[in-house]
Amino acid sequence: MRNKDLFQPFTRNGKAMLLAYDHGMEHGPIDLIGDSYDPNYILNLAIQGGFTGVIFQKGIAEKYYWQTDYARKIPLIIKVNGKTRITPGEPFSAQNCSVTLAKQLGAKAVGYTIYLGSEKESIMLKTFGQIQEEAHRLGIAAIAWIYPRGRAVDKGDSPEMVSYAARLALELGADAVKIKYSNSEESFARAIKMAGRTKVLLSGGEKLSEENFLQRIKDIIRAGATGVAVGRNIWQREDALVFATKLQKVIWPTANK
Ligand code: FBP
Repeated sequence: MRNKDLFQPFTRNGKAMLLAYDHGMEHGPIDLIGDSYDPNYILNLAIQGGFTGVIFQKGIAEKYYWQTDYARKIPLIIKVNGKTRITPGEPFSAQNCSVTLAKQLGAKAVGYTIYLGSEKESIMLKTFGQIQEEAHRLGIAAIAWIYPRGRAVDKGDSPEMVSYAARLALELGADAVKIKYSNSEESFARAIKMAGRTKVLLSGGEKLSEENFLQRIKDIIRAGATGVAVGRNIWQREDALVFATKLQKVIWPTANK
C-alpha cells in the first residue's frame, strides 16, 4: 500500500483542480454571494467546469453529494475539521467527522487543517497523525491544510513559513498539502521542494482580479505545484463557468491543442 498514490483519483494528467466549499462554516454566509449559497449550484459548476474534485464538510456531503448521482461524476474530499470565524483566541480547528463516516459518504480523501504556530498546534498535529493512519488503513488519501497562524507567527505567508508548512506535511505523511501563496514563484518552488513526495496544492485566498489570479496560478504551476484547491476565486465570480475554463487552460496548457 505504501507505493500506491492515494491522491491519484483527484488528478488528470498528473494535475489537480479542486473546488473548495467549506466557507459557510469557516467564514459564514457573508462569503456565499449570488448563487453560491446553493450546494447544487457548486456541484454543477464543479462538474461542468472540469474540476477534478470537490471539498465539503460532512453535512453537505450527506445532504447533496451522497443523495444524488453526483457521486459518480466527481470525486469528493471531506474536510473532517473546521471552525467558525467568530471565536477569538489562538486558532484551533476541532475534528467533527470520523474518517470512517467520510469513507462511507464516498470520500476518496479527508482534509484536516493544522494551524502551524498556534498554541494549540500540538493537538492538531496529534489528531492529524491519527487521521492519516486511519485514512491510509481505509485506502483513502489524507490531505493537510497547513496555515501558519497564531500569536507566535509574524507573517503566515512568508517564504519561510510556507516552506515550513510544506515540509511539515511531508513529515506527517500527508498525501497532499494545501498551502497559501508565498508571494513569488521562486519561494513557492522552494516550498514544493521541501514537500518532497507530498503533492502541493495552492489555497486560493480572497477573490483577486481575473488577471492577477491566473498569473498566480501560472507561477505555481511553473514552480511545480500539482494544482489548486480554490473556492472564492471561482464561485464568487458571476462568470464562474467561463473562468473555470480559463483556469483549466493554465493548469493543462497543452490539453486539446
Ligand atoms: P479559498 O480558495 O476561498 O481561499 O478557499 C480555501 C480555503 O482553505 C477553504 O477551504 C477555507 O474555507 C478557507 O480557505 C479558509 O480561509 P482562511 O482560514 O484563510 O480564512
